[in-house]
Amino acid sequence: MNKPEIKLKVMIVDDEHGMCAGGERCLKNYAIEEKEFSDKISFEVKSYNNGKSAVEAIRTEQPDILILDYKLPDMNGLEILESIEDKKFLTIIITAFASLDVAIAATKKGAFDFLSKPFTPEELRESVKKAAKSLYTARKMKALEEEKKQVRFEFISILAHELKSPLAAIEGYLRLIDERVKGESLESYDQMVKRSIERINSMRKLIADIIDLTKLESGRKKRNIETFDIKDLITRTAEGFYNYAAKRNIKINLSCESFYVKADQTDIEMLVSNFLSNAIKYNRDGGSVNIEVKRNDKNISLVFSDTGIGIKEEDLKKLFNDFVRIKNEHTREIEGSGLGLSIVKKIVDYYGGNIDVKSEYGKGSVFSVNLANIAEEVGVGKSI
Ligand SMILES: Nc1ncnc2c1ncn2[C@@H]1O[C@H](COP(=O)(O)OP(=O)(O)OP(=O)(O)O)[C@@H](O)[C@H]1O
Ligand SMILES: [Mg+2]
Repeated sequence: MNKPEIKLKVMIVDDEHGMCAGGERCLKNYAIEEKEFSDKISFEVKSYNNGKSAVEAIRTEQPDILILDYKLPDMNGLEILESIEDKKFLTIIITAFASLDVAIAATKKGAFDFLSKPFTPEELRESVKKAAKSLYTARKMKALEEEKKQVRFEFISILAHELKSPLAAIEGYLRLIDERVKGESLESYDQMVKRSIERINSMRKLIADIIDLTKLESGRKKRNIETFDIKDLITRTAEGFYNYAAKRNIKINLSCESFYVKADQTDIEMLVSNFLSNAIKYNRDGGSVNIEVKRNDKNISLVFSDTGIGIKEEDLKKLFNDFVRIKNEHTREIEGSGLGLSIVKKIVDYYGGNIDVKSEYGKGSVFSVNLANIAEEVGVGKSI
């Protein structure tokens, strides 16, 4: 595959015409293609033969790599470096005499490398290559940092919005109660109090999700890896949902082999709870949820199928992003933070697993998870 090409600006400053011409020739058709880089790097070369014109050109043209002769007729290389305040380029100093003093002084001024005259085209290319790779890596890291900051900012903006709206709703109800808009009888306000409590509960759930997510994301979640019977854990977790499901006459069917796994119990519980909560929440009244857990050598598979509202093909890709809630006529009335599946994804990534979703809009969905290497060998753990 052809990589996109980026051009770095190289500026050669030397009073010897031959040096400039040789440098230009040597770098004109030179390109760097490193396996680990996503771009091909080539060079655009310009030459200057005195200090004054070089300083001006550095300010206006912003080179990426400066190849600078130490001894120029009007000023020396160090003076040039000193006169540029904001150095976004890397400097290779060339000297006719390899003097340690010059090297030390130039390093203090931020020079990246040295070449002593005479040098071969290969030596020049090698030095330029080193500088180009260093620049490229530093810039990529900076871009990545910027992107991270942007993601963080978006996350906090959405979070602030998600916290503000229930607060505004609760405040609205409290003001209506304060103004006694429905008279003096307490019962007249039951509906408002009920709605306020619901909003508070979903806010609490959102805060709990944020705490889980941040712990997982920052790698600060303390994990207690132990051996336990997966069937016990999943049965217990599912039992916690029976009442919730029964209210809408939804049946939970569990088919789980009994075997030992080595993992953090709260991780697996969180994972199962989130899938199960979705499978019930986005189901139809009177529907069903099937959970099937199997082992395959050291790997385990968990499959959650439901007879619910389903997900359209175009929405499937977004599901695991933060705060994603699919909006349609079925989901309008359903509360949620849109963080459950982000949490699940982080857990599955931690165990080096994968998630597959198949869904038919209006019919139901199947979420399948594979977790690698967590099942214990048969016979292990039986004594606990
Ligand atoms: N089993 C499912 N059937 C249909 N849609 C689903 C199912 N599971 C998830 N979704 C859709 O994916 C979205 C994201 O799910 P996720 O669990 O991340 O958030 P949530 O359920 O909205 O909120 P939370 O889990 O934090 O309470 C949901 O809002 C819903 O639209
Ligand atoms: Mg959910």
